[in-house]
Amino acid sequence: MTALTGKFTAKDIRRLRSETPGLPGRIHLDNCGSALVPRAVVDTLEAHLRLESLVGGYVAQEQQSKRLSEVYHSAARLLGGKNTDYAMVGSAVDGWTKAFYSVPMAPGDNIVTAYTEYCSNYVAFLQRVRRDGIEIRVARPGADGVLDLDHLESLVDARTRLISVTHVPSSSGQVLPAEKIGEIARLHGILYLLDACQSVGQMQVNFDQIGCDMATGTGRKFLRGPRGIGFLYINEKARRLIDPVVLTNQAACWSATDRYDLRTDAGLFEAWERSCMNQLGLGAAFDYALGLGIDQISDRVSSLSAYVRAGLKEISGVTPTCQPAASAAIITFNKKGLTASDIKALMEKQGIATQVASVVHTRLDLEARGIDTTARVSPHYYNTTEELDSFLNALDML
Ligand SMILES: Cc1ncc(COP(=O)(O)O)c(C=O)c1O
Repeated sequence: MTALTGKFTAKDIRRLRSETPGLPGRIHLDNCGSALVPRAVVDTLEAHLRLESLVGGYVAQEQQSKRLSEVYHSAARLLGGKNTDYAMVGSAVDGWTKAFYSVPMAPGDNIVTAYTEYCSNYVAFLQRVRRDGIEIRVARPGADGVLDLDHLESLVDARTRLISVTHVPSSSGQVLPAEKIGEIARLHGILYLLDACQSVGQMQVNFDQIGCDMATGTGRKFLRGPRGIGFLYINEKARRLIDPVVLTNQAACWSATDRYDLRTDAGLFEAWERSCMNQLGLGAAFDYALGLGIDQISDRVSSLSAYVRAGLKEISGVTPTCQPAASAAIITFNKKGLTASDIKALMEKQGIATQVASVVHTRLDLEARGIDTTARVSPHYYNTTEELDSFLNALDML
């Protein structure tokens, strides 16, 4: 596709929508759960599956080797770093756990995190507390609900082995100041792991600029790629400092009976057996986002999110459950007399996809604010204000 310039025009949006097979007849507002893939991704997946059915998986992989390797370059063009800094993994959590458990830590060491940390990351922290005798230190929000950076920095000391934060949590549109956290990490010479699962694809994210050493993301969310694939970004410095938690025949070459040679690129964390189809599909999703331009995407996602936030304020009985400064395309709320699950079910009956977020996803944040479950909508750039009005009217009528 040819690149669209400037802000999206009405014609651009019509085209984008016509390139999205899942749109007609439904209003998809669960893009932070799993977005609708564009035709370019569907075609890529179908073509590779067909090729595999005709020549077998290995020959198909050989025939597509150039395109498979281009996926790493596309990742680096969209998200920064070098192509060799990216590993294709099964999911964001798959990449995150491989990176996290590879950071050497001894009893008495600590991790600094923030109040918005994702459940899967936090249970891994807790396991290392029990197993390795480390300590978790949590940076809190300031009075404005935004991360208190001074507090975060005050938690760092000579025993801090990792700063690990979630860029955008799954239960609110709060955006953590990832770049400022990067400055703190660099100043103190500490490894920095960013869970960018909910930020990539909806806003400008550049790992060089942010200054993180490791970062993870997934295909199916705002990137609009397939399920069953994610990526791990791990720069050269981190690759030198970690001790890979597991080795496989892909990570290391069995070069003599008593020796192996480790890979030096991020492929260290890849499995030999993986879905080439999904990798190509993710590449198509990276290229689609690059073709549209992340600035245009981000611009439209922000204005649609602001539109929903403003609309929710007008509906009687609705209480927003995001922090006041939240701006990303994850918008949570509750409505008097209905549970979040009621809202999801009633919306689904009208062909509107919404979601439920719960305290188990981001316990530190939601528990402190007395929220157990909350309804969640997450618009993407292909949504229209008419669709958002339909959702807001439907919510008003519930
Ligand atoms: C912030 C965050 N991190 C990580 C994940 C996990 O992604 P995956 O299921 O692809 O491993 C999610 C999924 O919702 C998420 O919201």
